[in-house]
Amino acid sequence: MPVKMGRSFVLGAVARELRSGVLVLDSNARVLYANPYILRYLTFKPDERVEGRELSSIISNPILLKTVGSVLALEGDISNEAVKPGPEETGPVEIEIEIEEAGRSFNVRGVPINENEDFTLLLFLSDITEEKRLESIKRDFVANVSHELRTPLAAIKGYSETLLDGGVDDEKTSREFLRVIDRHATRMSRLIDDLLTLSRLESQQMSIITTPVDLRELLSSTEKSFVKHAGDKGIELSAEIEDDLPVVSGDRDRLEQVVVNLLDNAIKYTPEGGSVRLRAGVENSTIKVEVVDTGIGIPEADMPRIFERFYRVDKARSRDLGGTGLGLAIAKHIVQGHNGTLNVKSSPGVGTTFSFTLKAF
Ligand SMILES: Nc1ncnc2c1ncn2[C@@H]1O[C@H](COP(=O)(O)OP(=O)(O)OP(=O)(O)O)[C@@H](O)[C@H]1O
Ligand SMILES: [Mg+2]
Repeated sequence: MPVKMGRSFVLGAVARELRSGVLVLDSNARVLYANPYILRYLTFKPDERVEGRELSSIISNPILLKTVGSVLALEGDISNEAVKPGPEETGPVEIEIEIEEAGRSFNVRGVPINENEDFTLLLFLSDITEEKRLESIKRDFVANVSHELRTPLAAIKGYSETLLDGGVDDEKTSREFLRVIDRHATRMSRLIDDLLTLSRLESQQMSIITTPVDLRELLSSTEKSFVKHAGDKGIELSAEIEDDLPVVSGDRDRLEQVVVNLLDNAIKYTPEGGSVRLRAGVENSTIKVEVVDTGIGIPEADMPRIFERFYRVDKARSRDLGGTGLGLAIAKHIVQGHNGTLNVKSSPGVGTTFSFTLKAF
């Protein structure tokens, strides 16, 4: 620090540059100082001076006003000779509350300072909106996982109890029930596999090992593996893959997982008589893979959310089709891990196109 730089100049710069709000109030709840960070959340015009104004004229939050009011009232009582605190008593204590203001969440810490009869209340406001958002994602995630596991587990338990209660004596019933149990157990194990994949991808434990991948071969073999499934559903499946598709740099198994997810969705959400096309070619020196279907489409309102974990447009329908809503979340992570992007265009009742880009090796 240059020797000449004054202490108050430096403190002013600290308060100005802080990424949290600082408000200093006097004993009448008037503003003595507000740092620039907090100004954007207060209701007053930029050309007005904030100093000297009452707190209630710049913040309407009732919880904050009430808390500050009670701290100041306590200070008033203490300054009153009759109720001066004894030596063991201290003045008003530090407070900590959470408030919602201007659509964001803040943690507010209030520190009263008494110095030579002068009283000031320092308020520090930290924006905790992002922390709260992550907390709620975590809570939703646990609730979703529990719910998804409970459904198949309840079926397994119900059917096995019926078998134990005598259902096993009838061979036809036993076979049928065992098939249901097997189906639900498969669903649970798929869900757990998907969750593990997702969590490894997110925590970057599952590194994407890039090697030269023959994309043409990968796409046509994946397409072939769906021919029977599509045929059974009365859907015409075809592939248009450019002959001279360059070798790409990627993780073969993970890329295959993306294509499987997209083809599986396209077939799942296309009614009988429709078609699904897998296309790949070079566009502006990147390689573009597309899965085009003539299915039910995705409503505009759901578009921003379909890549979220567990998000399904029609929960009941998707669950009946065996979906857990993790496929696209996984696919997006894998594509991003390859420095590409996964995009979607859709028109309800007409069809959907998912596409992703990859770089040549
Ligand atoms: N091609 C598509 N056409 C219409 N809707 C689609 C299509 N692909 C995905 N969706 C919608 O997006 C949701 C999320 O897809 P995602 O693949 O993540 O889940 P899922 O297919 O339901 O389950 P999972 O992939 O885990 O088996 C689906 O539930 C469906 O509502
Ligand atoms: Mg899917």
